[in-house]
Amino acid sequence: MGYFLKSADEIEKLRRANLAVSAVLDAVEAACKPGASTWDLDEIADHKLKELGAKSAFLDYHGYPRVLCASVNEVVVHGIPRKDVVLKSGDIVGIDFGCFVDGFCGDSARTIPIGEVSAETQKLIDATRQSLDLAIEKCVPGNRLQDIGWAVQSHVEPLGFSVVRTFVGHGIGKKMHEDPPVPNYGSPGRGLRLKEGLVLAIEPMVNAGQPEVEVLEDGWTAVTKDRSLSAHFEHSVAITANGPVVLSRA
Ligand code: MF3
Ligand code: CO
Repeated sequence: MGYFLKSADEIEKLRRANLAVSAVLDAVEAACKPGASTWDLDEIADHKLKELGAKSAFLDYHGYPRVLCASVNEVVVHGIPRKDVVLKSGDIVGIDFGCFVDGFCGDSARTIPIGEVSAETQKLIDATRQSLDLAIEKCVPGNRLQDIGWAVQSHVEPLGFSVVRTFVGHGIGKKMHEDPPVPNYGSPGRGLRLKEGLVLAIEPMVNAGQPEVEVLEDGWTAVTKDRSLSAHFEHSVAITANGPVVLSRA
């Protein structure tokens, strides 16, 4: 246990890794159209990653087989790209990508609507993105870790959505997963005091139905137990004297 506080120089390196992540996500997002398979999306990510001279953070991580996670509809996170998972209008896809540049890790995710989605689906996406923005605003020295989770929970629950508890955000640095774990729920004013130099990957996973998830036979794909839709957004955020700096936003 124990977290690392990053120097300005290290934060600059984390910025570079996260800008590469953002560029890869942009390339993948542009290809999120009806008819594209999640395998196609992975190939785009892999190509862009190599072009940028970055190293995948996901490939071979505990045996994960690809560079991208592509999580369609009821898949919460860790959807493995497949040729037979083809996007169609009305779907949503969570794209999650991480890479190393110069020994430092970037990690970010977005949920993309495919073609025309229902108003309720769009509401889930918007609420999840907004909850991340509200959580980011809490990334100020002196605040507490659970202020972040509370910001997510108190935004999405009144809208009738639920917060996934099985998976959490994390510190990030020379490793993808560092302390502290960053839950998307909590009580305001509780937990670790946020300090200048802490860098967190904040990643709300929000379900349209109940919060429970289960992992499929492949050992990775996490789906909602009730098969309701799920959305996921993630940014890597540095806590600085000047407030939050979103490293994975171009
Ligand atoms: N970005 C994710 C995370 O923050 C997913 C990584 S899972 C992996 O944990 F296996 F694909 F690496
Ligand atoms: Co992450």
